[in-house]
Amino acid sequence: MKDLQGRDINYMRISITDRCNLRCKYCMPDGIELLPMSEILTFEEILRVCRQAVELGITRFKITGGEPLVRRGCADLIRKIKKLPGVEQVTMTTNGILLSEYLGELLDAGLDAVNISLDTMNRGRFEEITGFDQLSEVLKSIDAAVDSGLRVKVNVVLQQDKNADEWQKILEIAERRPIDVRFIEMMPIGKGRECDGISNDDLLREIQKQYPGVCKDDRVHGNGPAVYYHIPGFVGSVGFISAIHGVFCSNCNRIRMTATGELKPCLCYRDTMSVKDAARYGTDSDIREKLQEAIQMKPKQHCFDVEEDITEQHKMVQIGG
Ligand code: GTP
Ligand code: 5AD
Ligand code: SF4
Repeated sequence: MKDLQGRDINYMRISITDRCNLRCKYCMPDGIELLPMSEILTFEEILRVCRQAVELGITRFKITGGEPLVRRGCADLIRKIKKLPGVEQVTMTTNGILLSEYLGELLDAGLDAVNISLDTMNRGRFEEITGFDQLSEVLKSIDAAVDSGLRVKVNVVLQQDKNADEWQKILEIAERRPIDVRFIEMMPIGKGRECDGISNDDLLREIQKQYPGVCKDDRVHGNGPAVYYHIPGFVGSVGFISAIHGVFCSNCNRIRMTATGELKPCLCYRDTMSVKDAARYGTDSDIREKLQEAIQMKPKQHCFDVEEDITEQHKMVQIGG
């Protein structure tokens, strides 16, 4: 379905839980209240929404969280979404802690690709950033996922005085392996507002200095807003998600659904609408109506520069990125 700007909306990000087994400071503030389980959509309800989304032309789904793998039955949900007629792709974004454990099940369920967060290669810093001493689990998951043949992207959020000096070390994991390492600009959402991010324009200049011959890679790597470059001698690529310094909204193809069934027309848009009651008690056409409304409400672009629109109510861990 097209939105009012003529953009084709064919991709939906579904957060299946607000729980996470890490506590990244920019994403999950201390003392955040967890949503009651009764408010969270059941897998049957999520599937109902997916079915109607497919009717409207949404054929690609991203499963996110919180951390999606902390919800029991995640692989089974993926299997069921993947089996819906018309679905082309189901991918997942995870922190990687549990991925190696569930990899077999996920592959069997038909997962098409995985994005894994990794902000540092240093054990102490990992604990500082995420609250847990579990870097080795993430590295193990990255290795296992690559070895399994799954398409792997690694998400890196750089912060001044925390991990910015590690960009090259992290990028090097793409030197000999088919991994896309993507640098995401810190977005002023929730706690992200208090963090000191890095401009991807500056980072690209630094990368060009270190690796002469870096050139734009126009192949399609995913469904997201990332822009990719090829580095001579590298098997993988480097990608940039420049939410602040590069407005990519004119190509936006997505809507989001939170774990409680709030439809978000844009990552940072104050107004949401709930599809929960429709998914719980309504008809298929009630669900379609809500999805259509959300697509029609999509703003032209994000509102990161409108201070009052970026409120504490936007908690990344509940939106799912
Ligand atoms: P694929 O490339 O298809 O894997 O999708 P993706 O890059 O959108 O997936 P991922 O879940 O890994 O998201 C990476 C980062 O991009 C997260 O920080 C998201 O918040 C951010 N992101 C994804 N979609 C949007 C968007 O529409 N707007 C903005 N500003 N950021 C987005
Ligand atoms: N700005 C940018 N990226 C963020 N993420 C979480 N919060 C923010 C933020 N405020 C990233 C995580 C993960 C991805 C899904 O979103 O690091 O890689
Ligand atoms: Fe959890 Fe990801 Fe948020 Fe970190 S960024 S707290 S891993 S949801």
